[in-house]
Amino acid sequence: MYAITVTEPGGPEALSWSEVPDPVPGEGEILVEVAATAVNRADVAQREGRYPPPAGAPEYPGLECSGTVAALGPGTEDSGWSVGDRVCALLSGGGYAEKVAVPAGQLLPVPSKVGLVEAAGLPEVACTVWSNLVMVGGLRAGETVLVHGGGSGIGTFAIQFARALGARVAVTAGSDEKLAACRELGAEITVNYRTEDFTERLREEGGADLILDIMGGSYLDKNLRSLRTGGRITTIALMGGRSAELDLGRMLAKRLSVHATTLRSRPADEKAAIVAGVLEQVWPLVEDGDIRPVVDRSLPMHEASEAHRVMEASEHTGKILLTR
Ligand SMILES: NC(=O)c1ccc[n+]([C@@H]2O[C@H](COP(=O)([O-])OP(=O)(O)OC[C@H]3O[C@@H](n4cnc5c(N)ncnc54)[C@H](OP(=O)(O)O)[C@@H]3O)[C@@H](O)[C@H]2O)c1
Repeated sequence: MYAITVTEPGGPEALSWSEVPDPVPGEGEILVEVAATAVNRADVAQREGRYPPPAGAPEYPGLECSGTVAALGPGTEDSGWSVGDRVCALLSGGGYAEKVAVPAGQLLPVPSKVGLVEAAGLPEVACTVWSNLVMVGGLRAGETVLVHGGGSGIGTFAIQFARALGARVAVTAGSDEKLAACRELGAEITVNYRTEDFTERLREEGGADLILDIMGGSYLDKNLRSLRTGGRITTIALMGGRSAELDLGRMLAKRLSVHATTLRSRPADEKAAIVAGVLEQVWPLVEDGDIRPVVDRSLPMHEASEAHRVMEASEHTGKILLTR
């Protein structure tokens, strides 16, 4: 088969469409014929050599895909999946390829209102948003959630999901066009981080109960100051650095908590539990049309370099898909 490989860690030009051995599904795995994959920021870090795949994962980039079941590996006869099923999948790697072997517990059916290609952009955002907003962050109806990077793949999904839960959504983004897109998706409080201080704005709005954070160190203190009593931060990326001084006094007085997680490094059974939660709690919202995939553009898989360039320049709103 063909896959996108990283010739030498570096810029977008390091990605090339190369012939590689076909994957063979191991115990508990299902072989998927890939229709499309989607670009995630983590793929950029992997291309640069800063985020190697976890042990046992395919070496090619790609944390999600859609396609059809091509073969059942050993031990998956009773998994409920059959050859030809239309699926999308959460991956530990290997989505930028014609075929990928996936643990059966990481497959999801393609929702009926979503096209096969569009479905490639759902698993990573659905699993990340569900696990961080609900399982870790405990978001409830009536609460206010601040989503940093509202125009991102994660952000555009998080806005719709939080709204569907009955939460009030605040976002930050770097352009008025992205903020307008966020408002269309249901965000009520929108802050252009280049021209406005989000901490002050959130305080005027009564504070946030939960913050879905992608900046890490550079936003830690500002995030803490934006929370109301009992507030929580779930950090999922460190785009603003990995360390900062933590004011425990502020945390103690307001009973605040800070969490940080990555999905990719979780063991397969935890990923399967998250996927099962998504199927039960999030997929019905997609079926009902409360959440729709937000696709910025689709490019052929062999143009992965251009897709990475667009992501690094943050020109996109929502997901960038790569098709076969
Ligand atoms: N921990 C996990 O399990 C997990 C899983 C999935 C994704 N992630 C992480 O979550 C982040 C979003 O992922 P993605 O794939 O959706 O990437 P993405 O679409 O590229 O989103 C990154 C966004 O950050 C915005 N941004 C940059 N600086 C900002 C700032 N100072 N304040 C607010 N927004 C800022 C960018 O646009 P503008 O600057 O134009 O607004 C862009 O929309 C990535 O860092 C990714 O690595 C983590």
